Amino acid sequence: MVSNKKLNDWVNEVAQLCKPDSIYWCDGSQEENDRLTQEVIKSGAATPLNPEKRPGCLLFRSHPSDVARVEDRTFISSVKEEDAGPTNNWVDPKELKATMTKLYDGCMKGRTLYVIPFSMGPIGSPISKIGVEITDSIYVVLNMRIMTRIGKTVLDVLGSDGEFVKCLHSVGAPLEKGEQDSSWPCAPMEQKYISHFPEERTIWSYGSGYGGNALLGKKCFALRIASAQARDEGWLAEHMLILRLTDPQGNKTYVAGAFPSACGKTNLAMLIPTIPGWKVETIGDDIAWMKFGDDGRLYAINPEAGFFGVAPGTSMDSNPNAMHSIEKNTIFTNTALTDDGDVWWEDIGHDAPDHLIDWKGNDWSSSSSEKAAHPNARFTVPASQCPVISDDWEDPAGVPISAILIGGRRPNTIPLVHESFDWNHGIFMGSIMGSEITAATISDNIGQVRRDPFAMLPFIGYHVGDYLQHWLDVGTKTTPEKLPKIFYVNWFRKDEEGNWLWPGFGENSRVLKWVAERVSGGGKAEKTPIGYMPTKDAIDIEGLDINTDTMQELLSIDKEMWQKEIKSIHEDYKKYGDKLPAELKKQLGDLQKRFEG
Ligand code: OXD
Ligand code: MN
Repeated sequence: MVSNKKLNDWVNEVAQLCKPDSIYWCDGSQEENDRLTQEVIKSGAATPLNPEKRPGCLLFRSHPSDVARVEDRTFISSVKEEDAGPTNNWVDPKELKATMTKLYDGCMKGRTLYVIPFSMGPIGSPISKIGVEITDSIYVVLNMRIMTRIGKTVLDVLGSDGEFVKCLHSVGAPLEKGEQDSSWPCAPMEQKYISHFPEERTIWSYGSGYGGNALLGKKCFALRIASAQARDEGWLAEHMLILRLTDPQGNKTYVAGAFPSACGKTNLAMLIPTIPGWKVETIGDDIAWMKFGDDGRLYAINPEAGFFGVAPGTSMDSNPNAMHSIEKNTIFTNTALTDDGDVWWEDIGHDAPDHLIDWKGNDWSSSSSEKAAHPNARFTVPASQCPVISDDWEDPAGVPISAILIGGRRPNTIPLVHESFDWNHGIFMGSIMGSEITAATISDNIGQVRRDPFAMLPFIGYHVGDYLQHWLDVGTKTTPEKLPKIFYVNWFRKDEEGNWLWPGFGENSRVLKWVAERVSGGGKAEKTPIGYMPTKDAIDIEGLDINTDTMQELLSIDKEMWQKEIKSIHEDYKKYGDKLPAELKKQLGDLQKRFEG
């Protein structure tokens, strides 16, 4: 029992419906964490890793059907269908609640109901918000403790009448009396529901125990519900990393960056610059909440407290800071296990040993054709363990953002970097960004561009047209020079043979340098039909093995390609119907004219 009546009533109501064996309120203490850790080890749900190699680390293996976010089973259940828009699945909230109430009835039998009070953002920051997750999964409790700030201190801030987002989660696997639990309980796909009721600021998740489906502070609250709150309250909840860039003179520039999933946000947020004297420090790798400060500038916080990163591909080459972060106190999910109690995954930077236990728990040998780790295997690690965490990453006031990067995987058309003419043009750029559909996506449209406005396609809690209008409206709330400058970057351009033109990773600091120069009033640029582009000598390529032809190609604008691009944007914009902001239509027309003129 706590002093917040609304919270008590809700917990009682859920308990009556879900019928758990017991109720447990998480206090967030170390003792609690140790106890629950022992419990999952004893039950066989988790394997402790070798303390000599990975102290304080656990490995979980999910059910093979429960390995990623399930966008097809994710719903924005606004009262009106038109408010969910063309990019979300919608079901009438009454109907969805009726369906899910039947599923929830008795779903926690044989299990404990855990109540997790959590804060998204530093506890007590004016930008932070409180949620409470009810779950029947210890895995969720252990992960939420890393990804958010949980426990008693949150209840203290909530007080007797504080507001919170209701986040209800069940793995959807009640236990009969005496029934042995499985190591990863979950429900079949057709019973999984990741539902959002934006008007009620409520989340109901059922049937999955994995990542964004189950750790409800992350995508469900901090993006889908928070984007609706942000629209109503005049701020921004975005799928963005936040980094602090420091030049050799000590000047600091705060940069936010929107990139779709699997485009290297974590790597960019922890990048080690190759240019001497420059430094990147991490504030967040996935989500930014931005609000106007009293000085009219946008201030960002990272609402999360940990990183939930994709393991495969993470190595001392691609991201040494992530590798150091996960040396201890980390939860691994669906990686492979070595015979000496360590983890392994594809592209970790060293060959697989002859024998492993794969992510499904089976023996694996180096001659096997199957992957040892699941491609979406994850690490969950406290942000504080990152060697380059910025000393102000928990500043309750947030950090002032000077530049917003946007980008996706585009093998052609989009140059290495270009800057918007102004805010509205930047929002236009955000509306057209996206990635080429590759063989990695199950789709008939390989080679086409999947537009992903501000990398928020799966995360906008309302109509995408209203979302872009909100971005435009934000630009009217302050004077233009106080708004961040917007840059469209593309690390993924390829030559005709399909080779990458740009080396990426630490070399991206060369582009960041130009960004910082532009923000502070320097940085050479020329006006082109698509925006401001660096002049030939503006990007510092000293010490980089790249020839001038390649650099020219990286910064080239192919008129024919852009005319195709414009046609495809016209097509894409059709789905907005009458919710397409007039300003974006105008921006598209202006772009077309600039190419004709
Ligand atoms: C994502 C993630 O899918 O961050 O974007 O997990
Ligand atoms: Mn993400």
